[in-house]
Amino acid sequence: MQHPTSAASDDVRLTWAGQDDPVTWADGRLQWGPSAPVTLAETGRHGDGPATGRVVHGVGHDVLAHLADLEPGTARLVYMDPPYNTGRTFNAYRDREPRSLWLSMMRQVLTATRTLLRPDGSVWIHLDDREVGRVRMLADEIFGEDNFVADVVWERKHKPSFTHAQIAQVTDHILVYGADRSRLAAFSTGEKVEPRRVPLHNTGNTIGVLTFPAGSVELGSDRFIPAGDMSSDNVTTELLDGIEVVGGRNVAEFRMRGPFRWSQERLDAELDAGTVIRCARTPLRPNAITGSGGRTWTTLFTAATGMATNEAAREHSKALFGGDGFDTPKPEELVARIIRATTDPGDLVVDPFAGSGTTAAVAHKLGRSWLTVEASAAVLEGFTLRRLQAVIAGRDPRGASLEVTEQAAQSLPPGMSVRQSRLAAQWVAQLARTGAFDGADAASVTAVVEHLQTLASTSRTRLRYDGGGAFTTWRAAA
Ligand SMILES: C[S@@+](CC[C@H](N)C(=O)[O-])C[C@H]1O[C@@H](n2cnc3c(N)ncnc32)[C@H](O)[C@@H]1O
Repeated sequence: MQHPTSAASDDVRLTWAGQDDPVTWADGRLQWGPSAPVTLAETGRHGDGPATGRVVHGVGHDVLAHLADLEPGTARLVYMDPPYNTGRTFNAYRDREPRSLWLSMMRQVLTATRTLLRPDGSVWIHLDDREVGRVRMLADEIFGEDNFVADVVWERKHKPSFTHAQIAQVTDHILVYGADRSRLAAFSTGEKVEPRRVPLHNTGNTIGVLTFPAGSVELGSDRFIPAGDMSSDNVTTELLDGIEVVGGRNVAEFRMRGPFRWSQERLDAELDAGTVIRCARTPLRPNAITGSGGRTWTTLFTAATGMATNEAAREHSKALFGGDGFDTPKPEELVARIIRATTDPGDLVVDPFAGSGTTAAVAHKLGRSWLTVEASAAVLEGFTLRRLQAVIAGRDPRGASLEVTEQAAQSLPPGMSVRQSRLAAQWVAQLARTGAFDGADAASVTAVVEHLQTLASTSRTRLRYDGGGAFTTWRAAA
């Protein structure tokens, strides 16, 4: 057997019987069978003014393939929450297909998504742990492993059920890929952080040479800085090339020798990521200014980060539809975090598995344009459309209709956010409980905790969306 000799030829793929066979939707379920190309016919309109949303009755992969032909490179975000193939049958839809059929459907919807995404767009694929491993391989193949961004862990349940055999499963996965990862902006929380200054010189480090590319360093006023010794009492360093400063930056690359904290690879990677290097005065002491782009989300979407669980989604669904609501709704807060972090107002958000219409509802409330697809007529009539009508009529004052802002009760120390003061209070209290401050005056420790708690004591909720806007309905037909 011939083994691969380089990383480039080392192609490991997931294969299964029927992987390239067409998949269709018939008799209310997925089936193997030819799926003719579809076209879309407008069937109705709801609301006043220009329509910013489209609800399509059709099969997710067929409709996305049609859009990918018609409007390639237009979606900034595709969020998909397909049936997880749990082997169960819910009230509203069936969730047990042969794995090969389900995977072929996912391959087709992901392939169409790749063409539909804008170069700076991303796809978020929501799954539980049953199929996530296989879909990760499939998506690596379709989007390219280099475009994998994250496997976000969402805490879907706060209270575990105790019917499990070994371990209480309380999380879902959301696989995130960029159409072109290098074009993706950071997924910002919107929270500003004070920029941090990291000196690149670090006395005691091995002496090395760093090359700063042309235009990469902010050097203050325009002048010529001659090469030469730049040492002072505690730093031994040398500028190896003279620097012509024009427009506040170095016209050509220059080199410095010294005890640097970063290697050349790290410097290059930081510059690629947008880190600013600044040294306005001589003797030159370059500093990296990090964090100026604001805070980004971590891969943990948990209650501790202010995230809602399925319990909240079900409450919202019951309020919208009465009875038990939709079987498997996602919380609007989850989808709102994703939409806010990845899109700007007006951008197109697409969801090929509408269900009760959470993505469309949130995209509408946040001023994005949107398109969602649902295969089941019963789900479409009973949930998707009912909900979106309630949204534009202003009858849904929950979820992403609300804006919760945390406000400090008193002015915070410079650089500290409300969230940080709340976390600091929790940490200090936890450390006190574990005896970390033994020997310290207990009353002082309590005073510190109380002070941190009062700093972050208020939050304000206001209704930011109370109806309005319009959407159209469409039918996909062969
Ligand atoms: C997990 S639910 C989506 C729930 C949704 N995110 C919400 O918050 O309500 C999946 C939905 O996809 C629909 N569906 C299943 N297969 C489909 C397909 N091939 N094309 C379009 N819709 C499909 C099901 O009828 C179901 O309503």
